[in-house]
Amino acid sequence: MQIDILTLFPQMFQSPFSTGILKRAIDQKLVGINIQNIRDCAHDKHHTVDDYAYGGGAGMVLKPEPIFEAVESIKLDIKEGVNMLPIILLTPQGRPFSQQIAHELSRYRQVILICGRYEGVDERVREHLVTDEISIGDYVLSGGELAAMVVAEAVVRLLPGVLGSEDSPLDDSYATGLLEYPQYTRPAVYKGWSVPQVLLSGNHAQIANWRREQAILRTLERRPDLLDKANLSLEEKRLVNGLK
Ligand code: ADE
Repeated sequence: MQIDILTLFPQMFQSPFSTGILKRAIDQKLVGINIQNIRDCAHDKHHTVDDYAYGGGAGMVLKPEPIFEAVESIKLDIKEGVNMLPIILLTPQGRPFSQQIAHELSRYRQVILICGRYEGVDERVREHLVTDEISIGDYVLSGGELAAMVVAEAVVRLLPGVLGSEDSPLDDSYATGLLEYPQYTRPAVYKGWSVPQVLLSGNHAQIANWRREQAILRTLERRPDLLDKANLSLEEKRLVNGLK
């Protein structure tokens, strides 16, 4: 997969893409990340990328030309599937990002992420260039850069071969529709606090039952809204209704 990120702050991406799973995926060529500076596509003497808003008001608006040109320069690189290429603007006005959207995006061969600045992007970019708008939550960041990193990380870890089988994404919170069960490691007793006995029992069936029950309880306590969509057995539904 290829992810192209258009930004006014390319340096922000250095550390996240040179550590951990993202770095490993890039090194193994499972994903290619291309960070493109929108300013390189502004051709006046001062490389102007923003301007005052028509009609007045505080804050500058990102000009359309450098963004269109940056996207067009990328599109020229790919030979097939141009129509299938999602061009996504990161903005608090977008559809809320979710694990399901991460899965959707992970199926494309190439995705373009455009980092807006919070004050605004010329509306013609929305109307005539982007195919999708994504928000990472109901709060305001100064720009889309951190949001693009969140989207890239969530998508890349789903690509085949990126995670080892031992940390398969199938058990993740949200993959099952439930929050994850509590995890423990050694020591078995720390400051007098013991690990639940069942986890030390070696009985794999009991452990699996306990984990499933804990995942359901935790989801009920913290995110009851998720339970409606989770795939629960009849017995599990009874458990939930009893606890409610
Ligand atoms: N840009 C500014 N705030 C944002 C948010 N919450 N999500 C995505 N992009 C943004």
